[in-house]
Amino acid sequence: MMNMTETQTTLTIPLADDFHVHLRDGDLARTVTPLVRSGGVGRCLVMPNVNPPIQTVHDALEYKRSLLHIAPDMTFLMTLYLHEGLTHNELERAAEAGIVAIKCYPRGVTTNSEHGATDLMAHADTFAAAENLGMVLCIHGEIPNDTERGIDIMNAEEAFLPELKRLHTTFPKLRIVLEHVSTAAAVNAVRELGDSVAATITAHHLLLTAEDWANNPYNFCKPVAKTSADRDALRAIIKEGHPKFFLGSDSAPHRQAHKECEHPKPGIFTTPILLPLIAQCMEELDCLDNLAEFVATFGRHFYRLAPNKGTVKLERTPFHVPDRYGDIVPFAAGTTLNWSIPSPR
Ligand code: DOR
Ligand code: ZN
Repeated sequence: MMNMTETQTTLTIPLADDFHVHLRDGDLARTVTPLVRSGGVGRCLVMPNVNPPIQTVHDALEYKRSLLHIAPDMTFLMTLYLHEGLTHNELERAAEAGIVAIKCYPRGVTTNSEHGATDLMAHADTFAAAENLGMVLCIHGEIPNDTERGIDIMNAEEAFLPELKRLHTTFPKLRIVLEHVSTAAAVNAVRELGDSVAATITAHHLLLTAEDWANNPYNFCKPVAKTSADRDALRAIIKEGHPKFFLGSDSAPHRQAHKECEHPKPGIFTTPILLPLIAQCMEELDCLDNLAEFVATFGRHFYRLAPNKGTVKLERTPFHVPDRYGDIVPFAAGTTLNWSIPSPR
């Protein structure tokens, strides 16, 4: 633990782990991937929802190779997109190849989820195999919109929680991460389930409510930011320093043309400003002492990984967030943050 005082102007912590990031492919990947390190992250869990999705060990390893080519100093942890053709054999090969997690998208809830699951229990064999192999199951916890059942983007996460509980009861040793929790209900559910269930928290869900995305596509993501009571529950759990809640940025870049249009794509791009943003937020919550555990300890313990080598230094000097990186507009574009990461490190 650091001993923080009001005069503290620098902060050195281990390089962070981001346990949920979208690095895309092609030109977008070339723009985004080098910025992961600029945001203070040394290791990240890469989401498989590129197009076509990463469904095989071969594709995951190819994808990893292409990312390492762009950013050789990073550690990329890979995931497989849950789908019906995922065989036991393929999962064994995945575990052997060091692929750490399977990502489950309920069909139709977000970007490139057209190939996602329609019935979780149809994948029971895969979950049993993952449980035996010690792989993690990462879940986008939302029920797809359903007017008959009264499910919409505001209550889709809460409506998913009974499914989470059922999964955990059926596969008690399967390590499950409920990704990007956005509600007080989800925080409570994860807190109350056993130690094999954890959650990631994004920077943006600590900062936004529904007011913020209603008129601004750059604040629109899935799950959407909810009420101030929900946001405050996320803040409270990181202030408490609960080890089952750790950083997964869900940074999800989209080109400007896909944001400033009639149907903006969901996704908020925080990668290049990630640790300054979280440091500012935690400082405002008077829990900057918890930063290192939230970004560099709790998650790796859950994933059973060694500490990152190397540190990142944050300075309490103003950081002007650029208007764009290539044709991607970042979160908080044009504003000034209190903390920066001096470069080169
Ligand atoms: O806002 C989001 N964007 N949420 C997701 O779950 C996916 C992501 C993306 O890939 O754009
Ligand atoms: Zn995501």
